Amino acid sequence: MALYRLFRPLAFALDAEAAHRATIAALKLMPTRHPPRFPDSLKSTVAGLNFPSPVGLAAGFDKDAEVPAEMLGLGFGFVEVGTVTPRPQAGNPKPRLFRLQSDRAVINRLGFNNRGQVAAFERLQRCSHGGVIGVNVGANKDGSDRIADFVAGVSAMASVARYLTINVSSPNTPGLRGLQDEGALEELLTAVRGARLVGGPPIFLKVAPDLGDGDPARIVRAALDHGIDALIVANTTSSRPPLKSKYSGESGGLSGEPLKTLALDTLRKFRAASGGDIPLIGVGGIASADDAWDRIRAGASLVQLYTAMVYEGPGIARRIARGLAQRLQRAGFANIAEAVGSEA
Ligand code: FNR
Repeated sequence: MALYRLFRPLAFALDAEAAHRATIAALKLMPTRHPPRFPDSLKSTVAGLNFPSPVGLAAGFDKDAEVPAEMLGLGFGFVEVGTVTPRPQAGNPKPRLFRLQSDRAVINRLGFNNRGQVAAFERLQRCSHGGVIGVNVGANKDGSDRIADFVAGVSAMASVARYLTINVSSPNTPGLRGLQDEGALEELLTAVRGARLVGGPPIFLKVAPDLGDGDPARIVRAALDHGIDALIVANTTSSRPPLKSKYSGESGGLSGEPLKTLALDTLRKFRAASGGDIPLIGVGGIASADDAWDRIRAGASLVQLYTAMVYEGPGIARRIARGLAQRLQRAGFANIAEAVGSEA
């Protein structure tokens, strides 16, 4: 998009976090557009929700629910805000966000900096947009009971969320990923189930790409046992594939191009383990229609992205949507649902 071509050099002249703040501020100033019309073939129903396009904005860009309607207007089929924690928190010391330009990647160790669930709730309550806006909930770093924080998030945000995501996969909150372990996951999902409202929004679970061999099958089983509605595969990785940038030694979660293969492999493992019994949402390194198409054919009903937008601007969501509609037509599928898992 022409505007982004002007904005990009300015954004890249700033440090990464200042650029992000400037982007959110600019989006707030822009008049909110109506979402584009997507081809009918891109429409799908997942976990009971109607999605106009399967290309969503991943959590972490709009942590405080400041611009969800704007992002829908720019062409994302759905937007996940958050992670929001029960209480506001500052996150980790700066610098904590790095653009690895030569790797088309980002490393972040933000540590859930956010203004808390009350602030996000009030903003979402004022947002009358009818689109799919999900809320990703997490635990405060200094909280004494992580599971209680998730229960609080599910209760507090249910009435303003079209779906809720339980985020147990950020590498930047010590101990959080431990909630993916067997006993802890059981305990967490039991508590979350108890906090769900009848008729409340569907609940998704977001997992890490850094898992052991038996983990996908075990997590799928636990998710199905506890009525989780979809799995988001995956968050950033704490592994380090070969990188060129000077920031490659920074600690935190790696996203973007170098995460792509790992995220796709992880998705395939979840698909193999679930056989299509639970919807999957593919995330990690998606930057083109081909990437999104690979993820859908590997079993994702929906996809999300964040890092590629840093490099290519928000027009990427529409470009990918357009490319997906072409690929569906070429492959002879009437809609996205028919293509899900078709590589098998
Ligand atoms: C993230 N991500 C993320 N995920 C999440 O569940 N809660 C969060 O608060 C954040 N915060 C966040 C900040 C930044 C700066 C980045 C780059 C990423 C992870 C994100 O939603 C996604 O899972 C990964 O980034 C992989 O997708 P991409 O970025 O490769 O498309």
